[in-house]
Amino acid sequence: MNVIICKNYEEMSQKAADIVVQQVTQKINSVLGLATGSTPLGLYQKLVKAYHDKDISFKDVTTYNLDEYMGLDVSHPQSYHQFMYKHLFSQIDIDLSNTHLPKNDHHHMQECAKAYHKLLSKTAIDLQILGIGSNGHIGFNEPGTPFGNEVFIVELDEQTRNDNKRFFNHIDEVPTHAITMGIKNIMRSKHILLLASGIEKSESIYHMIKGPVTENLPASILQLHPNVTVIIDEKAASKYLENA
Ligand code: GLP
Repeated sequence: MNVIICKNYEEMSQKAADIVVQQVTQKINSVLGLATGSTPLGLYQKLVKAYHDKDISFKDVTTYNLDEYMGLDVSHPQSYHQFMYKHLFSQIDIDLSNTHLPKNDHHHMQECAKAYHKLLSKTAIDLQILGIGSNGHIGFNEPGTPFGNEVFIVELDEQTRNDNKRFFNHIDEVPTHAITMGIKNIMRSKHILLLASGIEKSESIYHMIKGPVTENLPASILQLHPNVTVIIDEKAASKYLENA
């Protein structure tokens, strides 16, 4: 793991954007794996700026998102479909037909998982962006998820629903299930870029880098991937630095 520690969120986002710009400059038809959550927002703003500055074009880029809430209409403001459209896709020159998120019809959950798995098995992700949950989840692979999982339907941890309730009016509105790429899908990416900021991520970051590789801390599997870049701010790095 290549661990890069930055002063703050701004620097973390800029360094991450530089890596994405470099990837797409080197290969204009790159396949990007995308994440949601507050962490990559700064990165997406920087990419929009890089597009306006003509430093990058997404014309030939294809994207696959990690996950989506189950049963939330795709027009719901907190759906990841809306998140991606609002914060990135609507502001750059990407062809929307080249952007992919898992479908999330809760009447046909297993069909949705199968269809996304099929789609992913036909491609190879060049660069996968990841955030991390305070419980060490990546995508929506919660603690205890088998490392061998491919796209699947997950029941969300109470901690994850609590962490994400800030985006909703009430905890009861936070979906109980999600569809997510499995660890196996994520590990197939050629390069993984994991971002984290803030003290609330310091524990999971420490265990991800220094702890045993265990399904109880899903992100620890990244220790076994040959090409992982971790970009974190000083707060997220604090526990790792104390114990380095
Ligand atoms: C969410 C997403 C993850 C994200 C994580 C952290 O539940 N499924 O992809 O990395 O939680 O979110 P945030 O960046 O808002 O802290």
